[in-house]
Amino acid sequence: MDGDLARQLPSIDQVARATHNERARQRFVSSLRKRVMVDMPQHLRAAYENVVLRDFKRQKKRAPRDGREIRQAMLSNPYFRAWSTLRYVAQEMTWWSVQPQVERNVQQVNAVARAVAAQPGLGSLQLDSTLAIPRDVSVMDIHLMPGCFHTEYVPQDAAPGAIYFHGTHVFSAGLKLRVKGGGVGRSIAEWLRIRFPQLQPQRILDVGTTEGGNLMPYLDVYRDAEGHGIDVGAPMLRFGHALARARGYNIHFAQMDARRMTYPDNHFDLVVSSFFLHEQSAASNRAILREVYRVLRPGGFMVHMELPPAEECDPYYNFYLDWDAYYNNEPHYAGFRTSSPLAECARAGFKPERSFKTRIPNYTTVSDAEFAAVARGEKPAPAHGNGASWFIFGGAK
Ligand SMILES: C[S@@+](CC[C@H](N)C(=O)[O-])C[C@H]1O[C@@H](n2cnc3c(N)ncnc32)[C@H](O)[C@@H]1O
Repeated sequence: MDGDLARQLPSIDQVARATHNERARQRFVSSLRKRVMVDMPQHLRAAYENVVLRDFKRQKKRAPRDGREIRQAMLSNPYFRAWSTLRYVAQEMTWWSVQPQVERNVQQVNAVARAVAAQPGLGSLQLDSTLAIPRDVSVMDIHLMPGCFHTEYVPQDAAPGAIYFHGTHVFSAGLKLRVKGGGVGRSIAEWLRIRFPQLQPQRILDVGTTEGGNLMPYLDVYRDAEGHGIDVGAPMLRFGHALARARGYNIHFAQMDARRMTYPDNHFDLVVSSFFLHEQSAASNRAILREVYRVLRPGGFMVHMELPPAEECDPYYNFYLDWDAYYNNEPHYAGFRTSSPLAECARAGFKPERSFKTRIPNYTTVSDAEFAAVARGEKPAPAHGNGASWFIFGGAK
């Protein structure tokens, strides 16, 4: 296929289109998620404060010490049980709502991914069929997504990438955002641009990139930079490569284990991740942070976005945030949140005086002026929750 024909290929995100009824089902799931994540939590908190906390104090003559104690007390509360069940079901339905459109079009999705990969053009795709999938990914369906990030149902499968891509849009469609998709990447990139104007990264690496959705916005801000995204899941990378080409992003995707990267020392100006480290065991996380330090050039920056650690939250919020560890197949989440980001940065080699942890507004939910005011330190970031702000940490090498 020549370059002209390649340019006629549809963008891979447009291939598996939903029918009218599928779209209606997806809207229902997005609304259900909004109800569970935005509307119901105030009633959950009331159930805690008015019933569970009162009973706890009456029995123990003290308040709960941490999120775990609150969870134990909440387990028998009917409102918590109903809310938790609805949240679990909404999570499953997110994937179920997009599976039919992808399965019906699986051959076309894969044909587009293959055709794009066979073409010369922007960026690249490097897969390693000998790579051992880490246990943290292979033993369970993280986020309840059928097949997780790595399973290939047909040879050279990109369709699970389509399920992830469309599913995450259903997942967040109930939230009010001024830019769809990539909100974390855009927020961090804008924050870096305002806060560290001297940083003009040429080579940016996103570890655990999935389909690159949060890497692409860095290239909107740093237009001359070259993006690199690594992941262990080949279907995610195939989809991401085709999507990046269609959208005109210069991104090199590689199937690689972040604990053992094949890049040379001092190679990148900026290394980032989002929603990634909490899915790793403590030992894997330490290996990853050490690797990030190694591949970062002196003066380069590392930034990770995660849920805020336990040390930043009150016991009730810790209970609330740890839901995913128990019900969303993210078993490391609660343990990860008890670690100290700055201590982990120091262990990886970052100097304490050059490390940071902070909250930044979600660029897609606030005005430019408000975002800049927070980035310049003139006002605090909005409270954490429902994508209003992001917790980030990292350091300069
Ligand atoms: C929740 S997803 C990250 C989402 C993505 N960064 C975003 O912002 O939308 C976690 C990703 O990490 C990948 N992953 C897990 N362990 C990995 C490892 N050791 N090395 C590289 N990627 C890994 C998974 O395959 C998955 O795609």
